[in-house]
Amino acid sequence: MIKPSYKKQVYSKLFIPFLEQDESQRPRYRALFNYMQQQILCGELVADSRLPSSRELAELLNLSRNTIKQVYEMLQAEGYIETRQGDGSYISTQLSLSRKAIQKSHRPDLRPIKLSDKSKLLQQIRPLYHQSNQQLLLPASPALDQFPWPEWQRSVSHAGKLMKFSGGRSFMGEPKLRQEIVNYLNTSRGIHCEMEQVMICSGSQQGMQLAFSMLINPGDKVLVEDPGFPGIDGAISTVGGVKVSVPIDRQGFRTDIALTDKQDARLAFITPSRNFPMGYTLSLERRLQLLQWARQHGSCIIEDDYDSEFRFDGPPLTALQGLDGEHSVIYSGTFSRILHPAIRLGYLVLPPALVPSFNQMRGFLDGGLSSLPQLALADFMSRGLFASHLRRMRKLYKARREYLLQQIEKRFNNQLVWEPSDGGMHGVFLLPPGTDDKAIVEQANTVGLGLRPLSYYYDKQPPLSGLVIGFSGYTETQIDTGLTRLQPIIDQHLK
Ligand SMILES: Cc1ncc(COP(=O)(O)O)c(C=O)c1O
Repeated sequence: MIKPSYKKQVYSKLFIPFLEQDESQRPRYRALFNYMQQQILCGELVADSRLPSSRELAELLNLSRNTIKQVYEMLQAEGYIETRQGDGSYISTQLSLSRKAIQKSHRPDLRPIKLSDKSKLLQQIRPLYHQSNQQLLLPASPALDQFPWPEWQRSVSHAGKLMKFSGGRSFMGEPKLRQEIVNYLNTSRGIHCEMEQVMICSGSQQGMQLAFSMLINPGDKVLVEDPGFPGIDGAISTVGGVKVSVPIDRQGFRTDIALTDKQDARLAFITPSRNFPMGYTLSLERRLQLLQWARQHGSCIIEDDYDSEFRFDGPPLTALQGLDGEHSVIYSGTFSRILHPAIRLGYLVLPPALVPSFNQMRGFLDGGLSSLPQLALADFMSRGLFASHLRRMRKLYKARREYLLQQIEKRFNNQLVWEPSDGGMHGVFLLPPGTDDKAIVEQANTVGLGLRPLSYYYDKQPPLSGLVIGFSGYTETQIDTGLTRLQPIIDQHLK
């Protein structure tokens, strides 16, 4: 350890590591400040010892005197050093006690910060796939090159001006956007709601997390589709819910299995318009059974209507909420798939009785979302741009799906068999039973393909082997490129 009052040869040694640092990224004064701070904290520069003068140190480090003076001032302002009238700068004597507590070399008592039991549960569930829009054939990818960017920029700029006049903060979201959503849902989705029931969230995922935390006690059962949307697992497990995986068939969620007395579930989370990922639509009979079950048991249904806008063979089907489900159904919608995955705007339509408690919770959770993107989207919708973009994308995605189906039939013969669905942004293609779809996808990912293995979406049910292939975000040329890369991988696995 260095003793007080540094002699030239001692301090030159002390600063050798600093001189050897490659610090071209940071201003020199910042690098020197951090270096000296560390030396003081780890005890190399000892309390009450005198530092070289600014002139001496400037010479040694080949820096200007002003730089050294600036560093000394910063060290002084943060309490590392003190100047003594007419006697130069000294390492602060105050530091000797407190420093011990943070010295790197004196940390036998250092314990890692403990995570809550809830967050440990998260580590036990299926991890989510990393999404990159650099990949081809990624499911849920909108056609970003078709988005009316200049119009959107106008809306963003208009929103910037509007913010000045936007009234107080609402936990539920900007009234203008909530009203636009009501207009859209009333006309396009047959949903009955008032603006007061609409809560804007950071994507539908946040809305669902909030709904689970408001409705589920530890140990409560939650009915989910199997296969289904894995993004919900985190929300269920962090509230201590018990997931009850319910099989599906081509009529959707198997109510005959789900709604037995032994299930006595508190909540059902379903994708009735188009099961994710299979694409099956829940039959009317099962919809009515579900609604009756919810009413009778005081249970709730979360209707995740993630991409029903893209139904190719007719107008979107009426939502479950619109089927007299206003009091039992929380309807969840998102703009991620229609506009942009990074827009992070979605919404819940709440049963009126739940509005006050959700509103209160939202205040504690995050105080509501930033106004700017909400006002921009409200403007975009009010100018009819949302509706026209949707109409255009519906046509485009339909054509892209046709192209993908044709190409898959042509190139893969019977190796990949399409599982019919009336719309969406991806297709499910079954592989021969027993094929290792995860191995295919792992290999496909290495050549820039973002498709997913169907078996990943299964929880308890015996999985079908297949590929979930996105088409909406890709031109015919890109689809060709993607399939050309996929072909040798499939051939290799099926030979
Ligand atoms: C079935 C389903 N539900 C919900 C979501 C979440 O959407 P958001 O991006 O709005 O959180 C997704 C996202 O891809 C999804 O696939």
